[in-house]
Amino acid sequence: MVLYTQRMKNITGPPVTGADFFGREEELARLRRAVEAGNHALLSAPRRVGKSSLVLRLCDMLLAEGWQVVRLDVQHCSDEAEFVRALLRATVDGGLEVPGGVKAVDGLRRFRSLFAGTKGQVGPVGLEVGGDEADVWRKLAASVQRVLSSAGGQGPVLIAVDELPIFLGKVADSEDGVRRARGVLDWLRGVRQNTGGRVSWIITGSVGLDSFVERRGLHGAINDLTPQTLGAFSDETAVAFLKALGANLDRPRNMGDEVCAEIIRRVGWPLPFYLQLLFSSLMDRPAERREAPGFPTTEDVAAAYDDLLQPHQQIRFDHWDSRLDQQFDDPADAGIARYVLAHVCQRARGCPRGKLFNLLLSRQPNVDPDALERRLVSILHLLGRDGYLLQTGSTHAFRSFLLRDYWKRRFCE
Ligand SMILES: Nc1ncnc2c1ncn2[C@@H]1O[C@H](COP(=O)(O)OP(=O)(O)OP(=O)(O)O)[C@@H](O)[C@H]1O
Ligand SMILES: [Mg+2]
Repeated sequence: MVLYTQRMKNITGPPVTGADFFGREEELARLRRAVEAGNHALLSAPRRVGKSSLVLRLCDMLLAEGWQVVRLDVQHCSDEAEFVRALLRATVDGGLEVPGGVKAVDGLRRFRSLFAGTKGQVGPVGLEVGGDEADVWRKLAASVQRVLSSAGGQGPVLIAVDELPIFLGKVADSEDGVRRARGVLDWLRGVRQNTGGRVSWIITGSVGLDSFVERRGLHGAINDLTPQTLGAFSDETAVAFLKALGANLDRPRNMGDEVCAEIIRRVGWPLPFYLQLLFSSLMDRPAERREAPGFPTTEDVAAAYDDLLQPHQQIRFDHWDSRLDQQFDDPADAGIARYVLAHVCQRARGCPRGKLFNLLLSRQPNVDPDALERRLVSILHLLGRDGYLLQTGSTHAFRSFLLRDYWKRRFCE
């Protein structure tokens, strides 16, 4: 069991760990069951839902129970060689043993000097490097595969790879990109198959890997992954969370039931991130409010919500706009998505698909209506899956009220 002695803090950005992590017992148990059974999980959920925090928590729990854990975030890797290097480095950081008692770390040190110029073969794990850059990743990949294939001798192993779809998207955008992305996915699948039973993988991403492979006809490369998802807190958990945040302040605050209910009503979609944001904004109210008897009140919540939408706070939400360019391969689709969002954000109850279709058609009267309809359906599907919109019947509305109000102020006023 992991014991945390620190107090929970109000964190509004990076993944939370230790005492700052709240709730998610069921989701953790589900993910844990998957990896304990030797399965490989694909955890896809919209941005800022808490994916990385959840996986880090599971890593900490399993580490404390004697698992070997390899974790890495590959969003900054720009090509295959960098990706495999990151995987090898994380393997080393995870202290993974390889047969013969030689740690991969020794191989990596030697490999680094090799990469800097020398060629040859090193170490019992057989890191072979040489030839031109384009070829390096294949050789490295074969070496890493050997390291991972022999892992698990010391106990079960978890490999958690965060933001794989962002890296794959970069590869796919390059020359001959789809073939190269397939190469990476097929290689990873091969590694998973070779290590089945002893090594479990969790792959995470806020850009859906499922839609990435679907769009490129690469589905077979991930059909061994068990899909998992993550949503908002239940209202009950959200209330408990807000009360705990209040109780853990240097100067503890009583978060009354009405105030908690108002926060949940305001955010509309109680992701822990939005709750943390509004809580933080509430505690940033001017001193005369903070010192007033009965603080915080529901009026304070309203004012704190408004503060969150001021221009200097927009940076917190801007990624929802920029991420659209990554979600859609075709810039014209990103343009339609932005048009749809700008329209839908102006109506709390949302907008029927038929209305959106008519609006789009009136912008491009010469377009084939059937093709436009299909395009709109697929764009709305993606916006729903990525957490922008929620579909009720044929109506599409913003899922998060906070995001809706941001969108309105940022793009429509
Ligand atoms: N279990 C949790 N307890 C408390 N706060 C949380 C929890 N999970 C997420 N958060 C809040 O959400 C924020 C984002 O969490 P995290 O980075 O894990 O999300 P993510 O889904 O990986 O985001 P991204 O899609 O941007 O990578 C954290 O900074 C924190 O404010
Ligand atoms: Mg993350």
